Amino acid sequence: MFKAALVYWSKTGNTLKVAEEIASALKDFGISVDMMNISQDDNVDFFDYDLICIGIPSYHWHPPKQVDTFLRNKFKQYQKEGKVKLAAPKVEGKNAVIFCTYSGPHTGINEAIPVGKYIGQFFEHIGFNVLDEWYVLSEFQGSEENSTKGKMGDIRELPNEKQLAEIRTKTQEIAQTISST
Ligand SMILES: Cc1cc2nc3c(=O)[nH]c(=O)nc-3n(C[C@H](O)[C@H](O)[C@H](O)COP(=O)(O)O)c2cc1C
Repeated sequence: MFKAALVYWSKTGNTLKVAEEIASALKDFGISVDMMNISQDDNVDFFDYDLICIGIPSYHWHPPKQVDTFLRNKFKQYQKEGKVKLAAPKVEGKNAVIFCTYSGPHTGINEAIPVGKYIGQFFEHIGFNVLDEWYVLSEFQGSEENSTKGKMGDIRELPNEKQLAEIRTKTQEIAQTISST
């Protein structure tokens, strides 16, 4: 059976909301999904899965420190195991989707793109096929100023139903693509 892991880090719940939507869409497609919180589940081996969906927020246009540490440790482990190879040959059947929630108070989506690209590089280096990166505009919980006066305007209550429905559709497309290959 096709196996997916939904790996996420979420402090104020926005990323978790998106993660749950993706997990539910995959399950509806008959794909088994393991949910993993990066701060608690460090033992995951990405190679045990056909699809990794990984989601984190943008913190100072970087991954949060805990996520960075997690990925660096994993990278070292895969280097030791000889899984980081020159020219990054693709490992058949290993796929990743990256999603990043952000509030973009200063420069908008440009505060999230480096985060998605950074995580994408981790997966490309170990031979995964990065299928897509999704950037989800979200309320800056706990800061009304950042949620109303920033570059993206009034972003309170985001992600909303419409954004989550878009995520569901994109997840269904991904599920369709990989289950037909
Ligand atoms: C300490 C901190 C730093 C943040 N830095 C940025 C940033 O540089 N750019 C940005 O777009 N959003 C930034 N945000 C907003 C979060 O990325 C956004 O609200 C995200 O959806 C939070 O995800 P979570 O609810 O899953 O924790 C920051 C939030 C916090 C708490």
